[in-house]
Amino acid sequence: MSNLTKENFIKAKVFTRFDELYAPLLPTIKATVMQRQNEITDTFYAELSKDPTAANIVAGRIDQLKATHKIWMDELFNGTYGDEYFERRYKIGEIHVKAKIAPYYVEVVTSYLRRAFAETLVQQGPEAVSAALAILDLDAMIIIGAYHEDRMRRMSEVTGMNQKLLETLMSFG
Ligand code: HEM
Repeated sequence: MSNLTKENFIKAKVFTRFDELYAPLLPTIKATVMQRQNEITDTFYAELSKDPTAANIVAGRIDQLKATHKIWMDELFNGTYGDEYFERRYKIGEIHVKAKIAPYYVEVVTSYLRRAFAETLVQQGPEAVSAALAILDLDAMIIIGAYHEDRMRRMSEVTGMNQKLLETLMSFG
């Protein structure tokens, strides 16, 4: 189930005028980012591995993770961000939830990626940086959404309260 996260993804795209402002730009900056993809991905895992807990999680599968990270980055700049894109990205979120990776780590490495993208694209101007950050933030929102939904599901199982009611109780109005 990914209804809430999907609703938020669609709302966030409207809020940022993503399809109009950023989606068409992303394929035009793909080559610049992909030229530095190896370096960005290597640093991503090097940064992560500075933390002993995270290092433990990725140990022994860094090469495989680097390969999937490359595909992930390539798809980020493909230019189509509809249902299929959402479902693929939500699955990536679920994989991290199942692997019991604390969302804190996702937040800190996303912060690294924001800086890496900004540094890579600064020469191409503010629109290029904005477009890359816009899609990166949507991806991060989807992954964090998968964590939220998993927590709600587990809370619902433990308390016996239905998930919709829990969402309503936790909402601000
Ligand atoms: C923005 C943050 C992140 C992105 C974009 C990302 C991307 C990915 C992708 C694309 C996959 C492959 C999913 C698939 O098999 O289809 C993956 C798997 C994995 N990632 Fe990440 N990742 C992120 C953060 C992290 C962090 C913080 C850790 C560890 C602390 C981590 C550890 C792993 C592990 C262990 C797997 C393999 C899980 C399994 O197959 O059981 N990732 N990640």
